[in-house]
Amino acid sequence: MYIPTALSYDDVLLVPKKSAIKSRHDVKMNTQLTKNISLKIPIVSANMDTVTESTMAIAMALEGGIGIIHRFCDISSQVHEVKKVKRKQNIVIGNPFTINTKATLAEFKERSTELGCSSFLVSDDGRELLGIITRRDVVFCGDDSTLVKNIMTPKDKLIVGSINISTDDAKKMLRENKIEKLPLVDEDFQIKGLITEKDIMRNSNNVQASKDKLGRLLVGAAVGVRGDYLERAVALTEAGVDVLVLDIAHGHSDNAIEAIKVIKRALPNMEVIGGNIATAQGALDLIEAGVDGVKVGIGPGSICTTRITTGFGVPQLSAILNIAPVCKKYGVPLVADGGIKQSADLVKALAAGADTVMMGGQLSGTEESPGPAINYKGRQYKISRGMASLTAALSRPDSKEKHHQITPEGIEARVPYKGPVKNIIARYLGGLKSGMSYGNAKTISELKECQFIRITNSGMRESDSHDNEVL
Ligand code: IMP
Repeated sequence: MYIPTALSYDDVLLVPKKSAIKSRHDVKMNTQLTKNISLKIPIVSANMDTVTESTMAIAMALEGGIGIIHRFCDISSQVHEVKKVKRKQNIVIGNPFTINTKATLAEFKERSTELGCSSFLVSDDGRELLGIITRRDVVFCGDDSTLVKNIMTPKDKLIVGSINISTDDAKKMLRENKIEKLPLVDEDFQIKGLITEKDIMRNSNNVQASKDKLGRLLVGAAVGVRGDYLERAVALTEAGVDVLVLDIAHGHSDNAIEAIKVIKRALPNMEVIGGNIATAQGALDLIEAGVDGVKVGIGPGSICTTRITTGFGVPQLSAILNIAPVCKKYGVPLVADGGIKQSADLVKALAAGADTVMMGGQLSGTEESPGPAINYKGRQYKISRGMASLTAALSRPDSKEKHHQITPEGIEARVPYKGPVKNIIARYLGGLKSGMSYGNAKTISELKECQFIRITNSGMRESDSHDNEVL
């Protein structure tokens, strides 16, 4: 039996080229996540419950990447997380929150805290605009039983815009009228949207962020391939999610292929990333089923024990090298998922043919990852766990198995608290930009033309700092 050799990131290096790049700022890191979604940086945060919920997804999108909200919760909780990201910034809020004229100030305050929103359009049927109530209206009102209708700015005093108003005209109206909110209505005064000064400011300040056509941050969400997956996919789509990511350990399976077909049939305009796979045939089958991106990685994850539990897997660099030509031929971007330990791995993954990398472990333990930091011997840590670890399997909403019936393919770990995720991203991007200048690559596509060489154990030893006592 012929047994081929397969390589992982540490087995190779890239050969430097004569570089015409004068500064690391001259390189462009934009790339495709899927056929129709582009990102400004090639980093995606993993759909793990210790990595990506709305806080991480917001931070990732603000940096120019994207976060994929995990699915280890009921549908409404996942939808809620997606909505939090989509509401973080917009140019036009399409479906603004409203409050009834007969609500009391106490109810206003309660709703305000619950929704994290300090002002509401006033409407009794949710459609006709009757007024607006903002933080300024309530600030000096001490009586909590006061009705909204008695403190709101009423319809006849409202400044409103039409739904087709341009951002520049909206800015002018906000400035000239010294207001912070501009409700958008049709000729019958039916609510059609809301533009706020804060949103316009946010949008013009963060040009680097990943945004949709309405200026809202991009976000993805994971779905499974069994049970309520279609209901979940539909609910997430209605919540405004930009991309659905199939979350299944063995993506080259009838279950996954069927789920992709069902989702694409029901939601033809939704971008779907299929995976995980580790072979060219896997990519071909998922592409034929209709995916808009493929996710590659069987067993490289930092918390993953699939390979030692099952004996199956493909070292990640070879998996990417084998699949990339198929993805290129069909114009379907490749997400290299798992196994990134340092910025060199990101550079190697992209040079091997990936368009983005998905990172879990490296982004866990950050300020934005879910869960509190815990103290251990005077240091702060956060928990990182595999989604097929024992505790994750036991805490699934639909879990019926007892602990002794579960064969884990992941572990639970303690990771040092790392501070804001943007610092980690900055370190990775710094390494990528430097790498691109060694490879004379102004773009990620040019990086793919670089030559790999295999190294030996002594080459590996030489690569890291050596013969020092590291401080
Ligand atoms: P990391 O960046 O090396 O930590 O890898 C993250 C990736 O590991 C995720 O995006 C998943 O594809 C994968 N993964 C997450 N949980 C598990 C698990 O329990 N077993 C195997 N792989 C996992």
